[in-house]
Amino acid sequence: MSAATFEEMSASDFFYRNRDIAGLSNPSRSIFVAIREAVENSLDAAESEKIPPDIYVRLSFEAEATQDTQVYKLRVEDNGCGIQPRFIPSAFGQVLYGSKYKLKQARGTFGLGGKMAVLYGQITTHQPVSVTSSTGQEKIYSFKLMIDIQRNKPIILDRKVLINKDNWHGTIIEFTLEGDYLRAMPKIIEYFKQTAMVNPYANLTFVDPKGRLYKFTRATTAMPDPPKETMPHPYGVDVELLQRLILITECTTMTGFLRQHFHRVGEVTATKFLDFAKIQANKNPKKLTHEEIVRLMQNLKKYKDFLPPDASCLSPLGEELLKAGVMKELNPEYLVVHQRKPSTYEGHPFIVEMAMAYGGNVPKRDNFVIYRFANKIPLLYDEASDVAYRVISNMNWKRYKVSPEMPIAIVVHICSTKVPYKTVGKEFISDRPEVRREEANALREVARQIQHFLARKEHVHNEKKRLSIFSKYLPKIAEFSTTLAGETRKPDIEKLLKSVQKYGTEEE
Ligand SMILES: Nc1ncnc2c1ncn2[C@@H]1O[C@H](COP(=O)(O)OP(=O)(O)OP(=O)(O)O)[C@@H](O)[C@H]1O
Ligand SMILES: [Mg+2]
Repeated sequence: MSAATFEEMSASDFFYRNRDIAGLSNPSRSIFVAIREAVENSLDAAESEKIPPDIYVRLSFEAEATQDTQVYKLRVEDNGCGIQPRFIPSAFGQVLYGSKYKLKQARGTFGLGGKMAVLYGQITTHQPVSVTSSTGQEKIYSFKLMIDIQRNKPIILDRKVLINKDNWHGTIIEFTLEGDYLRAMPKIIEYFKQTAMVNPYANLTFVDPKGRLYKFTRATTAMPDPPKETMPHPYGVDVELLQRLILITECTTMTGFLRQHFHRVGEVTATKFLDFAKIQANKNPKKLTHEEIVRLMQNLKKYKDFLPPDASCLSPLGEELLKAGVMKELNPEYLVVHQRKPSTYEGHPFIVEMAMAYGGNVPKRDNFVIYRFANKIPLLYDEASDVAYRVISNMNWKRYKVSPEMPIAIVVHICSTKVPYKTVGKEFISDRPEVRREEANALREVARQIQHFLARKEHVHNEKKRLSIFSKYLPKIAEFSTTLAGETRKPDIEKLLKSVQKYGTEEE
């Protein structure tokens, strides 16, 4: 007889026990993840209102912890939209709670990141998090919170209300955590640099535990339009989603139901589809049997004539801003950018943007430098597992006369309502055929342009070499030929030399 005993586990308990899957695997990585999660939340909060973000991050030393780790205090301030006081405790004290479970592009997706940072701080230092926030109204709210990990509920230790004289809006969070900053430092600085590259409209300030100041100043105040929330696309639905929609719908006909709850389905498409699926147009969706719902789902996937999703739920950077960001951080000799048209995988819209930079401050390596971004988040770990890495490695570079030792950086940005991350730690993108195809096409386009640039560069180089030889020997030829011809007056070669030099600079 089995003597097994059973128990239930809350979401926060699960993530407490399995924090590696959220990226909190060691003291150095944890400090990086904590900073990243807080900064991503701040960027989302500012961008959602089209406010150029001003983000201030300070990590200060508190005490020695073990031989290799220290206790730090992390403070992150932003000028974003702020949070209404009634949501603050759960937003920072309840795992899987958030405002971003919507069909529109955001850095946040899981309702987890900020809490994991707080939870990690709590279990390593047993101190509360303090959150101060205002939406710009008359009051500022300040909370001291801890997480009841077993019940997955916030514990409010203190709550203060202050008068907001200057109509300040934004959020300030502060908590302590254990970590290894020295080890984490290169990744953290790299994170800020890459964040600045893909958010060229943001001011980012980081003060590290040694008091060193890292400042990334915005290059522009132009920002992409915030994305609009959308409805599910017919190709992306399953039975569960259909049942949920049927439960909440007020429509009494199938035509109305399809038009009301699905992305890009109008009267004509709905009628044609119902005809195809052999479902009566005036049937009440609430009367569908379970078998009919399953059949409806299968037919929604089978029908070929639904319009592809539009991209209003996405907020790509755009070629101009991507250019500005890469110029700002790498100052390359030559830069090409390319944005693909919107595409979809499993009904989720996505756009790939790509840049290729040559020379300037592109770091010198034995291989291409790859910068990967998803919804404007730099992805710094597990490069070799990312679909972009495979696409870049599988490319026939010889065809483009490009070799990996050249000072070339490749920037890949995918934005989507649902980025196909492999883990909740947001480290790399899984290999979806649609995503791979889009990235490969974008890469071919930028590679073609780099090829032209390299060909021109080589031509100029050869031409210069030829001209320099010419200018070196021309005076001697003039001298010899004068003697040979028995003349005493040498021909005027100055004019010829000047025109040769002029041609050289023009070519350049
Ligand atoms: N700086 C901030 N300004 C405004 N709202 C914030 C801020 N930080 C967190 N929030 C709110 O708290 C919620 C929870 O944040 P959290 O980081 O835990 O999850 P998320 O951002 O929704 O998803 P993810 O797990 O992918 O980061 C957010 O959805 C947002 O509504
Ligand atoms: Mg978040």
